[in-house]
Amino acid sequence: MTKSETQEKGEATLTDIPGIGPGIAAKLEAAGVYDLMGLAVMSPPSLSELAGIGEAVARKAIQAARGLLNLGFMDGMEFAKKREDVGYISTGSNNLNNLLGGKGVETRSMTEAYGAFGSGKTQLALTLAVNAQLPKEQGGVNGKAVYIDTEGTFRPARIRQIAEAMGASADKVLKNILVARAFNSDHQILLIDKINEMIKDGEPIKLVIIDSLTAHFRAEFAGRGQLADRQQKLNRYLHNLIRMAEQHNLAVYVTNQVMANPAMMFGDPTTAIGGNIVGHASTYRMYFRRGKQGSRVAKLIDSPNLPDNEAQFFVSEAGVKDEE
Ligand SMILES: Nc1ncnc2c1ncn2[C@@H]1O[C@H](COP(=O)(O)OP(=O)(O)OP(=O)(O)O)[C@@H](O)[C@H]1O
Ligand SMILES: [Mg+2]
Repeated sequence: MTKSETQEKGEATLTDIPGIGPGIAAKLEAAGVYDLMGLAVMSPPSLSELAGIGEAVARKAIQAARGLLNLGFMDGMEFAKKREDVGYISTGSNNLNNLLGGKGVETRSMTEAYGAFGSGKTQLALTLAVNAQLPKEQGGVNGKAVYIDTEGTFRPARIRQIAEAMGASADKVLKNILVARAFNSDHQILLIDKINEMIKDGEPIKLVIIDSLTAHFRAEFAGRGQLADRQQKLNRYLHNLIRMAEQHNLAVYVTNQVMANPAMMFGDPTTAIGGNIVGHASTYRMYFRRGKQGSRVAKLIDSPNLPDNEAQFFVSEAGVKDEE
């Protein structure tokens, strides 16, 4: 949640905490602590040092933040209940759905596909944007999709093809996809605020696509010395994406490029951009590559509850499918 949104919702912000005025709040924000959650997970000595306040005051501030957030445990039944309203968006391929646990891309989660150019990452994005609109019985979540396009590769004509192949009205389907071109990483980050606003205004957004998650970050922080800054900014962005997914019960699908990893001598010598920061943020992470006879192969990487498996799919005129 962004600062402005927190304020609009009437929820507590950093300056509502005793001992934290605007000056200290600004210092905290500059260090990446921009809400109560960020404060709640700090230790008194680190807050004391960062904010230039005594340790006793720091401890009280942290306790106050934890109190306001109602941080604590929920039992397994409560947890299961919260998971009951999770929705699933079919990828268009049963194989790929099974790889992801059976029904496709999940709400309240972030799913990442990384792989070389032409491996099918954008094609899956386009297929998901159409399928999200379907009713639950048909593999959708009855919602609209947001498509954040960082590379100008969104093609309405391709959406038409996919929609028409399933007998849907292409115009209607296109109307339910809200496309924004992100011109740089700051713009890309700002668009999250915009999405939160649209949802507050009643737009039934159930899928947010970012194609590509990392291209701008990679281009803008090209120097070796800038890696730490890039990762910090990316990390903060990912954190906001996941919070949005959780808060609005929507699915986030991101694409990611690969870079050559010269240190790897066996197997496929490619690594995802953004490395572990993106990997840890993604609930489901897939690696896409070209397979035999025009097929694509998706490999599941480090899933919390599923075995690391592979699935074969095709990119057809009708979108992502099991067959050509
Ligand atoms: N209408 C279509 N019918 C069949 N196959 C198609 C169609 N449109 C695209 N494809 C296939 O999808 C491929 C492009 O895949 P996609 O755009 O998803 O790549 P990507 O993984 O997003 O790559 P990049 O990293 O360059 O963005 C094409 O090379 C082609 O094989
Ligand atoms: Mg692409």
